[in-house]
Amino acid sequence: MAEPLLGHLDPAFLAILDRVQGRLRQAFRTVHPLTLPISGTGSAGMEACLVNLLEPGDAAVIGVNGAFGERMCAMVERIGARPVRVEAPWGETIPPERVVVALERHRPRLVGLVHAETSTGVAQPVVEIAAAARALGVLSVVDCVTSLGGMEVKVDEWGIDAAYSGTQKCLSCPPGLAPLTFAPAALERLASRKTPVSSWYLDLSLIGRYFGTERVYHHTAPISMIFALEAALGEVLEEGLEARFARHLAAHRALVAGLEALGFRFPVAVEHRLPMLNAVIPPFPDEKLARKELLDRFGIEVGGGLGPLAGRIWRIGLMGTNATLDVVDRLLAALRTLV
Ligand SMILES: Cc1ncc(COP(=O)(O)O)c(C=O)c1O
Repeated sequence: MAEPLLGHLDPAFLAILDRVQGRLRQAFRTVHPLTLPISGTGSAGMEACLVNLLEPGDAAVIGVNGAFGERMCAMVERIGARPVRVEAPWGETIPPERVVVALERHRPRLVGLVHAETSTGVAQPVVEIAAAARALGVLSVVDCVTSLGGMEVKVDEWGIDAAYSGTQKCLSCPPGLAPLTFAPAALERLASRKTPVSSWYLDLSLIGRYFGTERVYHHTAPISMIFALEAALGEVLEEGLEARFARHLAAHRALVAGLEALGFRFPVAVEHRLPMLNAVIPPFPDEKLARKELLDRFGIEVGGGLGPLAGRIWRIGLMGTNATLDVVDRLLAALRTLV
């Protein structure tokens, strides 16, 4: 990011953009031409998907079992579309068959799912739902903010129509861009809208002309962030996706073993736990004080619970460069001084 700036239409910069798009396709495991970084954080990716695919009055089935499913519903409402919530308690997965029943009953425009719910540490099964959606002519939109680069995401094989992520989680890049990919079915939907996309800034029919072959100016690309993403994706692919996923899993397993010995408990069923976001119930009478000690004395920041889980769980992130046994050991050593 400290590199001298280039202009957003400089051929040298456009070559970097091409590389970033190619690397994003590899990370998402897709061949979709419209794969690009949206200017903005993960929420901009979420909004770009919803605002391009929905029109006022459309129904959207949304899986809600945490903060980010809630955020999707809030965005759907602001678009003037109708969220149909399929809910599960925070900390649990949403049974795919319940989502499929809602798709059959409501025949919505799209189904929105959060693959890795960062507020609860739950991995949501998406494959069966995406397949059912496709069979019903419903578009699938999947939030991969926390999963991309840390666990399997296979956009093409799973038949996902639109997916988005963020740079600051398992891609180990500063926050500021939202990788996004649109399948042909999503593009067809965009082309057949009756009303213009209500956000000018996030209109993918306009943005796509800058990222495609035309190179038509839409808005100034965040140059330094694109440099950073090129470098971060380079590291991800050099390590290899499978090796990276295995590293996240190994760090997660070491953390679980160490925390169990210290009396921590785990609210998420073992088969649905995210490796990169560990929801745990701490054994401390004052969890807030313990987190403050970790930060003040050891320079380790652990996330607290959100929403109904505030004050009840900790969220320990092992994402990207942080998913190592060394980091886990450092945290466990610090925690041993507190229990
Ligand atoms: C699953 C999920 N979706 C969406 C977002 C929103 O991303 P951002 O905060 O980068 O806008 C986050 C952020 O933590 C997230 O974890």
